[in-house]
Order: sequence, then structure tokens, then C-alpha cells
Amino acid sequence: LLAEMLVVVATTQQPTTAPVDVGTLGQELLLPWQQNRTASQHLMDELNNCTSTQAEAILTRANTRNGQNIRYYIQHEKTYQANRMFYNTLPRTSPLPQTPYRRCSVVGNGAVLLGRRCGAEIDKADFVFRSNLPPLTGNFTRDTGRKANWTTANPISQLNWRFNLLSNKPAQKEKFVRHVRQYSGLLWVSAFGVKAATTVAIRAQRVLREKKLSSLAVVYGNPRHFAAVRDFWAYNGLSMRLSTGIYLTTIAMTICDEVHLFGFWPFDVSHSGEKLLYHYYDKPDTKMNPNLDPAFLHNLPKEFLKLVELHRRGVLKIHLETCI
Ligand code: CDP
Repeated sequence: LLAEMLVVVATTQQPTTAPVDVGTLGQELLLPWQQNRTASQHLMDELNNCTSTQAEAILTRANTRNGQNIRYYIQHEKTYQANRMFYNTLPRTSPLPQTPYRRCSVVGNGAVLLGRRCGAEIDKADFVFRSNLPPLTGNFTRDTGRKANWTTANPISQLNWRFNLLSNKPAQKEKFVRHVRQYSGLLWVSAFGVKAATTVAIRAQRVLREKKLSSLAVVYGNPRHFAAVRDFWAYNGLSMRLSTGIYLTTIAMTICDEVHLFGFWPFDVSHSGEKLLYHYYDKPDTKMNPNLDPAFLHNLPKEFLKLVELHRRGVLKIHLETCI
């Protein structure tokens, strides 16, 4: 009966997705889990056959030619010419290591993170991925951890609208730098999805250099890599626009021996029936910008069920438990 009562249709769901019984799904994900190393290795090899994440995920001087026309992956008819000045700002070689990290955490922004005190568990990974400049300080730290080695920044909603970097105003630059000080390593920007993303991504890189924030480097996503990952998932039954979370998870599966997901739960109730906001940092009255509404952009429940399949096969672990 309890399971029946918990059958809900998630708010982010689209009509093509079957209703998800979140109660039963949650109970399953809380059972003990063991990695299947053969299955993980198999998927790593399969993904690396489509594209080498280590060499290709980030634009570098090794995978881009001076003067090359870079093709946008959404506005496919458009290109950007990597002139000398742009080319010289790319890292010489890939910042990703040749040997995989032992353990990685990929942190989604779901409100399911709240109250579970998994910060230390997240941070015990050798490498931590985060999406969309999430807050890690203050009361959040206990649930989110602090470590951030690869953080994504959406060029339109974050760099342009939230931090208004195109304005070039000192106060805006300061605000941005104050915010991104909480991350280290890579600040990854999808600069070649649409034309409007490129200028603001370049601006973000300049601001960090100008402010000498050497612990963080802006890097640009390689549209060829994104397209290869998109094709991989389309072949495996996900033909909609991929979310940042599944893209980062795919990267993790190719450069980490063990992959642990936290904050992935795209439903508006928890497995035990409490109401959930969408992001862990949303205020109760947060309104989604309709252009960025995940229901419009992605089909997160469908993606999530793919990740659940990988959890079942022992390829990655989805964490839902309370940690301490
Ligand atoms: O930009 P995007 O909508 O892809 O991401 P986000 O809202 O900043 O959240 C980062 C990622 O966390 C998403 O891409 C999802 O994969 C995951 N997420 C989730 O699984 N459940 C939620 N309630 C919110 C986010």
C-alpha cells in the first residue's frame, strides 16, 4: 500500500515517460551495492571507442589547430575561427591524467542532497565534478562537501544573466570572482553549443586571469566530444538533449575507476514521500525561467532511469542514503 501511495508522476516528467514508483525505486537504491569491475571497464572501453575523453573533452592546443574553424554543436551551421589569440589561451595539453582517478564523485544539484550529511563522503573522492556553479559554503557544506575539481558554468544563464560578465563592470567581475573562489581546478564552460556562449566564456577566462585566480582555470568544452557522447546516448535510447549531469557522469565513467553519484533525483518527492524542491539551493518560491526549465530542455526522469540501469549493473553507484 505504501508503495502504491508513493506512485507519483514527477513534475519534470514528459508524457513519453512511464510513471515512476519512487518509493520502490528508492528502496532498491538503498540496498547494499557492489561495483562490477568488469562491467565498469567494459563501459569505459566502449565509451573510449567513441571518443577519447582524456584527450578530447577539453579544447587544447593538441586537439585544435591554430586557425581552425570550430563547429558549434547546437547551431551546427555556424563556426568560430580559432585565431592565434584564442588558440594561445588554450591549455597546451589535456589537463586530464592518462591514468584514471581511483574514485570520483559526480554531484547533481537535486534537493535530495539536503539533510543527508554526505559532504565528507562526497569529498573523500579523488576528483569531484559539480554542475552550474552551486553554493558549497555555510550551512550547505555538511550536505554538499567543499571539494570541486571540475565545475561547470552555464555561459548563458550563469555567466551572462547571473554575473553579467559581458557588461565588463568591475563590480560584476568582483562578484563573479568572489563566487568562484569556492572551486578549484577546472571551470568548464560549454563555449561552443551556441554562438552567444563564446564571447562570455572568453570573458570569464580573462576575468580569472586579470584577478590572478590561479587555483581555477576556465576551459572550453570540445563540441566534437559532446557530439560523440550525445551520439553514444542516442544509440543507447536517449535521443533528447543531454543534461549536464549525464554528460559529467559519462566523462567520469571514462576517466575514473569508480563513479559515485550524489544529488541525482529528478522527482518532486523523496523515496519516503517528503516534498522536494528542484535544486538543493532553491528557495520555496523559486520560479524556473521557462527557457531553462528542465522539463522543456531535457527528460531527466528518463535519463535517471538509464543511470539506475548502470547502478543495477554495478557500473556506478547512485547514493540516496543518509551518510552520518
Ligand atoms: O543545467 P542542468 O539543468 O543540466 O543542471 P542543474 O539543474 O544545475 O543540475 C545539475 C544536474 O543534476 C542535472 O543535469 C541533473 O542531471 C541532476 N539533477 C537531478 O538529477 N535531480 C534534480 N532534482 C536536479 C538536478
